[in-house]
Formats: sequence, structure tokens, C-alpha cells
Amino acid sequence: MAQNPHGEAPARPFLPARGRRALSFVTAGVLAAAGVVALAGNAQAVGALGDAAAAKGRYFGTAVAANHLGEAAYASTLDAQFDSVTPENEMKWDAVESSRNSFSFSAADQIVSHAQTKGMKVRGHTLVWHSQLPGWVSGLSATELRSAMNNHITQVMTHYKGKIHSWDVVNEAYQDGSSGARRSSPFQDKLGNGFIEEAFRTARTVDAGAKLCYNDYNTDGQNAKSNAVYDMVKDFKQRGVPIDCVGFQSHFNSNSPVPSDYQANLQRFADLGVDVQITELDIEGSGSAQAANYTKVVNACLAVTRCTGLTVWGVTDKYSWRSSGTPLLFDGDYNKKPAYDAVLAALGGSSGGGDDGGEDGGGTGACTATYSQTSTWNGGYNGEVTVKAGGSGITTWTVPVTVPSPQKVSAVWNGTPTTSGDVMTVRPAWNGTLAAGASTSFGFTVTTNGNTSAPVVGACTAS
Ligand code: G3I
Repeated sequence: MAQNPHGEAPARPFLPARGRRALSFVTAGVLAAAGVVALAGNAQAVGALGDAAAAKGRYFGTAVAANHLGEAAYASTLDAQFDSVTPENEMKWDAVESSRNSFSFSAADQIVSHAQTKGMKVRGHTLVWHSQLPGWVSGLSATELRSAMNNHITQVMTHYKGKIHSWDVVNEAYQDGSSGARRSSPFQDKLGNGFIEEAFRTARTVDAGAKLCYNDYNTDGQNAKSNAVYDMVKDFKQRGVPIDCVGFQSHFNSNSPVPSDYQANLQRFADLGVDVQITELDIEGSGSAQAANYTKVVNACLAVTRCTGLTVWGVTDKYSWRSSGTPLLFDGDYNKKPAYDAVLAALGGSSGGGDDGGEDGGGTGACTATYSQTSTWNGGYNGEVTVKAGGSGITTWTVPVTVPSPQKVSAVWNGTPTTSGDVMTVRPAWNGTLAAGASTSFGFTVTTNGNTSAPVVGACTAS
């Protein structure tokens, strides 16, 4: 029988989540390029799935393991496809604080640094979890444990302050089954029900710019477990406990299929006033059946306004925690699977066009947009987007750009921006004609206001 993330049988009945935080912009004027620092090097591509999702106001991420980043095909697929990453294990307690108050961030830093270089956002996973917890934690007294928990949250969030769009502050605190009860853990057993609230309150004091999420599995449809989480979130919102988002892990297989009320369940949480995110998506299977299930999940997220993004739990089947179930979008040789095409299509993208790193090519239409950070200083940076025509000439183009709050765009050059909601759409400042394969660029200046995350540059649309 298929198992849930903890090796347990899935709860029966198995009835059955945007990471982009609220964004704001100033509408910037068109400035002359004169005086702007030289635009050079450090090209950063935002990928095909990421581009397509960005055009829908979402991110599309993947779990990443630091020890695979040196594998060329792994890195190129990652870089070509995704605009958000979640360290699969490298930010967990046992990885960053195996000895009390002695922190080691090197593996997680490697992922964050890679993401930043490539213009990707980062989800933080996870601060307080009963699993992958070093032995010393469970030996503490209640008083010591409270202190250790708050110190852990503070140290880790401080290290990554401004670099994480959403944090899984507490992970998997509820039991499976019909009880709706909390899971036994050192935190629950010694600190009682209040530990979750305390963790969120501490987290808010450390990085007010990060979205704070509760994350769990088997909560993807309405059931006793998701009802219990729902009641907690409702209570938190009513009492002003700082929670911004709920993560739905969405590990599916034939025994734990995509619930029929998946979208409705996401919506009822969103209606509480939190964002919802699909955080660890994988669906065992193959071919059209697997593809159809992925389509259901993507469509559900797109149908829920506050579903801010999706993350699949790995790049390739061969490194999946459930590799025998081939649950991901790329096979072991990094070939795109039908599930990949289905996801891209559901996001409104297309598989035709240039090379996006996967075997059967791909792209997002008649033009591409590639982001580079061209200079940075204390409090700001300049970005450049190169717009390149595909195999045919184009007469004009548009590119959406979002910068994470509280960043502000203060200037745009070689392009005309218009702002709608959280998206700054840039058009040519004058003649937008590009011959086949020709390129042009526009640039912008951003005031970071403490958040140094890279902007997300969406898909180029040509006509
Ligand atoms: O890195 C060591 C290696 O040095 C050692 O030789 C090997 C021997 O077992 O273990 C390796 O570490 C493993 C690690 O994955 C990296 O591969 C751990 O044993 C293994 O337990 C760990 O599994 C991770 C699992 O969480 C642990 O609970 C999976 O990679 C990771 O995908 C999985 O992710 C969880 C989410 O965090 C929370 N939701 C469920 C999800 C799936 O279980």
C-alpha cells in the first residue's frame, strides 16, 4: 500500500494552495539610458514553467538538493524551468543546528546562492518539525526547549532574512486519521498547544517580509485533519496570531489520489484570509493518467486567487523520495514527461519554440525574456531584461516584471511600464520591431527596502 510522508497508511476516508507575497510597485517613468551603469554579464534565465506561472501571477518551484547542483543536466533543467526553489533537506533542524546553538548553513547557502544568481525565489523549509530533529532537542526540559525553539527560529530566519519569500514555520503538527488531534512531538508534549502560536509570533519578529506558513500533508481535501488545521488558522486570524499562508504538500498516488474537493478545500482556507501554496507536489504514475492528475492540481491553484504558487518535490524522478513511483515532471534522463507538457499547457504555456533545457525543446512563444542583475549596492540594484525574438520577426512585445515587497521600482529605461495590481508590464519605449533571433533590452532600478530577493520576470509575449 502506498504510504504518506511518514510511512503510514493514508488516512481514510482520504478526502481530500500564491508564494508570491503581496507585491507593490511604483509606476516608473521612462528614463534615458544615459548615466546608467554598464549592463553586463551574469545572465539569469527564468524558466519555462516559471515564466508560464508568472504570467498567471504565480511561481512554479521545485525542491532542490545541494549535492545535485554539480550535475550539469540537473542544474540546467532546474535553471531552465523553475523560478522558485525549496531546499529539500538543507534547512531542516538536523542540517543547520545539529549541535545546540552551533549553526551550519553551508549546504542551504549553496542553494540560496544558486537561486539568487539565477533570479529564482526561495521557500524556506522548515523551522519547527518533529522529524529530522537532532537528538539533543528531545532531551531538553520544557523551559530549555522553548528557548531552543525560539533561538532556532531566530538564528535561521536572521541568516536568511530578506531572501525567503515564504517560510514553513511549523510543519506537520497534526495526526492523521479522524481524531483531528495534534501529533506527539517534543514541542507538543512539552510546550503544549501553544507552541505553534509561539513559533509564528517569534518568526514574525525576525523577518517581517517573509510569508509565514503552516505546512502539512493529507490536508489536501476536507477531512478531520484539514478541519483541525482550518480551525487553528481561523483561530489565529481571529486573534491576530501572525500567519500568512497554508502549505498543502500534495503527495499523491493511487491510494491517496487528488481529492475531488481539492480546489474547494484550497478555497475555504483562502477565504480565511491566508494565501495557499502547493508545496511538495508529486503524483505517482505515468503517461496521460499522471498528466491528467497534474492538470487537476494546476487548474485548482489557478482557480483560487490566493493560491500563489506551486512547488514540485524534486526535479527528476531519479532523485525523488519516491523514485520508484516516478512522480515528477522529468524522468531519470531529464526527458520531459507528458505530465510536464500538461502542467505547461495548464499554465497557458506552450512546448514549441526554443531550447528550455528539456529534451524536446520548448519555450514560451515568439520571444523570450532573460533577466540579469547588472549592478547592486547597499539598498538597491539595477536589473536588465533581454528580449529576444524567436524564429520569426516580431513587431512588438510585452514582459511582466514583479519585484517582491517592499521593493520599489524607481526607474525604467528603454521600455514603457504600466502597473496593474502587482505586475509591472513593460512594452517597447519606441519601435518594438525585432528581426528573427534579434534582441533588445530594457532596464530598471529597484530600491530594496531591506529585501534583496530577485524580481520575477515573466514570459515575453510577442505580436
Ligand atoms: O545524506 C544522507 C547520506 O549521507 C546517507 O548515506 C543516507 C543514508 O540513509 O541518508 C542521507 O540522508 C537522507 C536524506 O533524505 C537525503 O537523501 C535521509 O536518510 C533521508 O531520511 C532524507 O529523507 C528526506 C525526508 O524528507 C526525511 O523525512 C527526503 O529526502 C525528503 O524529500 C523528505 O521531505 C519531506 C518534507 O521535508 C516534509 N513533507 C514530506 C516530505 C517527504 O517525506
